[in-house]
Amino acid sequence: MTDINNKQEEKFDFDITPDSCMKLNIAPANIKLYYLALLTYEQYHQYIPNKIEENYKKLDQKYLSKLPFDYNEKVKKVREGIKVNQAFLTKVASLYVDKFRAVNVTNEQFQKYQTTEQAFINKLFLQLLTREWTEEGKEEREKCLTPIIQELKKYYDYENKDLMQKGVNILSIGFRFGRILYELAKLGYTVEGNERNYQFVLITNYLFNYSKKNGECICPRIRSFCSSFTEESVTKKHYFPDVDISNDLQNVKKDGIKITKRFFEEEYQDKKDMFEAVITAFSTDEAKNIIEFTEKVNNVLKKGGVWINIGKLNNIFSNYGGFDLTWEEWKHVILKSGFEIVREETPVLPYCKIEGQSSPHTLGTIFFTAKKI
Ligand SMILES: C[S@@+](CC[C@H](N)C(=O)[O-])C[C@H]1O[C@@H](n2cnc3c(N)ncnc32)[C@H](O)[C@@H]1O
Repeated sequence: MTDINNKQEEKFDFDITPDSCMKLNIAPANIKLYYLALLTYEQYHQYIPNKIEENYKKLDQKYLSKLPFDYNEKVKKVREGIKVNQAFLTKVASLYVDKFRAVNVTNEQFQKYQTTEQAFINKLFLQLLTREWTEEGKEEREKCLTPIIQELKKYYDYENKDLMQKGVNILSIGFRFGRILYELAKLGYTVEGNERNYQFVLITNYLFNYSKKNGECICPRIRSFCSSFTEESVTKKHYFPDVDISNDLQNVKKDGIKITKRFFEEEYQDKKDMFEAVITAFSTDEAKNIIEFTEKVNNVLKKGGVWINIGKLNNIFSNYGGFDLTWEEWKHVILKSGFEIVREETPVLPYCKIEGQSSPHTLGTIFFTAKKI
């Protein structure tokens, strides 16, 4: 059994404490709100089975009799799935309870938070874990992640022992649950992972320091019976991680994976010439200012270093002060920022596709490599 209170076991230092938050100008209360939301997931999500139950109860018996199932059984399965998710989230949240005990959060703050981010995050949140860390997500990773690693190999070949011994420093912006960090570190690269969303960082810390192969379990689709071909796809338990992280990374030194936890643009504001490669996988669409983002990627790269990107072209902040650029326009910005483009393709890729679900979840993307000149 994993002893999550034993700090000794934390080989990879994610440094999540009230003090480290304050140093980054992040209010420790916000981190407490994140883990409190994880701890109260089951309580909050009871509205889902309650609503299903309420709607079926209203149905006339003549309609109910035509259904191939007893709705009470369905409601029961949803409640069970939510419990399964809670068990995992409780393990994660337990890592932070003692550390943040002295941090004050009012009930009002928590309730306000619950109606905003919690609701959003947990809907997609768990599905995103399957993309990165389950056997079911393998095909998707082979399409979205493997091409990045193959591209990186062309410039910094992990089979070249002399090169790897000297050290090849890679920055991954937007690592979310860290699969990319694991894959790169396992190959011998020195990895720096940057992620602005602490809720992802809290979970990634758990995975890297405490998880055992297939020792965790979630029901990622339990929130919704819509767009599903089968009940099985909704209630299915997904086991993860599909790999033995600590064993596979046993030769990686403690500082072989470093974590930074603010917006890339902020964290690397004045940093220069640090990395052989920068990797962005589905993360540039969240840049508040893609021109500034592009400039900063150029700054942190060493001369001759490469920026490998796969991702969407729309900007999620375009309604809130961000803006969308077409690929033609962004490419112009990239060239003007001191890069040459050495690869350019537009693959259509899967994103959080789940077996048995009818929504297609594919995205038109741009895959490019830009070399710093
Ligand atoms: C859509 S996810 C992609 C995750 C993963 N790379 C993948 O391909 O599945 C984008 C991630 O990048 C993070 N992110 C986006 N913009 C960022 C920025 N400017 N600085 C740091 N993290 C960022 C988000 O919080 C999120 O975790």
